[in-house]
Amino acid sequence: MSADPKGANDPFFFGAATSSHQVEGGTQNDWTEWERANAERLVRNAERRHAANPWEAHLLARHFTPLKIENYVSGAAADHYHRFREDFDIAQSLGHNAHRFSLEWSRIEPEEGRFDEREIEHYRAVIGALRERGMEPFVTLWHFTLPVWMAAKGGTLAKDFPECLARYAAVVARAFKNDVRFWMTVNEPEIYSSKAHYKGDWPPQGRSFFAMLESGRQCARAHIAAYRAIKKENPAARVGAATDLIYFDAQRGFVSHFLKFIAERLWNTYFLRRAYRRMDFIGINYYFHNQIHNWFDKNQNEWLSDFGWEIYPEGLYHVVRAIGKYGLPIYITENGVADASDRHRERFLREHLHWLRKAVDEGADVRGYFHWSLLDNFEWDSGFWPCFGLVEVDYKTQARKIRPSALAYKELIEQWQRGTGEKK
Ligand code: BGC
Repeated sequence: MSADPKGANDPFFFGAATSSHQVEGGTQNDWTEWERANAERLVRNAERRHAANPWEAHLLARHFTPLKIENYVSGAAADHYHRFREDFDIAQSLGHNAHRFSLEWSRIEPEEGRFDEREIEHYRAVIGALRERGMEPFVTLWHFTLPVWMAAKGGTLAKDFPECLARYAAVVARAFKNDVRFWMTVNEPEIYSSKAHYKGDWPPQGRSFFAMLESGRQCARAHIAAYRAIKKENPAARVGAATDLIYFDAQRGFVSHFLKFIAERLWNTYFLRRAYRRMDFIGINYYFHNQIHNWFDKNQNEWLSDFGWEIYPEGLYHVVRAIGKYGLPIYITENGVADASDRHRERFLREHLHWLRKAVDEGADVRGYFHWSLLDNFEWDSGFWPCFGLVEVDYKTQARKIRPSALAYKELIEQWQRGTGEKK
């Protein structure tokens, strides 16, 4: 462990991010069950959508001819559980000096209160493999998937969700006390709470605005409990959380600014204003821009990903500047694009890093950038077709292929390091 736990002497961290369920394969959690029960329905919905989005149909056909439920079942995913060394070799060759990943809670605590030593050892090997390659591990405790027993109790809405997360946090913080400096307790509590409890897209498919808000509050309580648990085991650990921040871009006029104010309170700061006093850093996941002109979603949409999401690099600058008010170090814990043919990713990276650099030059305390994602992976209820990887995965053979943009990212990293006089 470094003698510099606060990280003042750390280099700027560059890397990529993954999450357990999306890449590991072979997981047994609430999502695995949900996928089995919902894959056929998702296929039928996709068939209906294809008329409007031939690109999705094309990508699906490429991997899964013809359209099949395999797209919607995580299954072996990218088999990263067995191939992490090979994958980290690639990340190292691409100039990454850090890597963000999540522990799969359901592997470590398959039954309530029973912790599986073998799985802890597995993650010890993962962390060791990163360290051997000179990459700093950034570890997320909980990235959307719940152990089946936790989901059965109500997931984030269970009264004891904070205690459960904290108990698990204490176990892993103790186990990896000498190996991990950077922890993220929860990933995107806003996205999770809205998709799982309001929009009905993700398990348990709730549809209540109030349940969404309660889930958000519970995530903040769980963060605080897990923060305390980790700090008790390892006072030198740096503990934060990854939040999804949207750049709400209000046009002139009172109505637009009022809507921005409400949206920011309900989305960008809902978790943060409850949790920031117990955070050593803020993790920002930046994907979305929302232009408000008397109502939401008035975006120009000049540049779109395979998903149809607008790409708006300048927004990263604005969210970073705005979040500076909390006075905490910032890491960009996710930022990426669904782009199977790799026609957007290089420009995407260049422009996002340009705006990030501007924020840093103006004094923002940003200390790292993690691209989403290292590998193509299982994109939740959309399945495998959206390709976010710097590295392409052929799911039939599990072969990896480095996309040209990954090499462009490597150059951008080197440029940044030259600019700041940092060596690799
Ligand atoms: C999530 C990832 C997801 C990515 C792209 C983020 O919301 O943390 O799990 O794959 O965005 O949608």
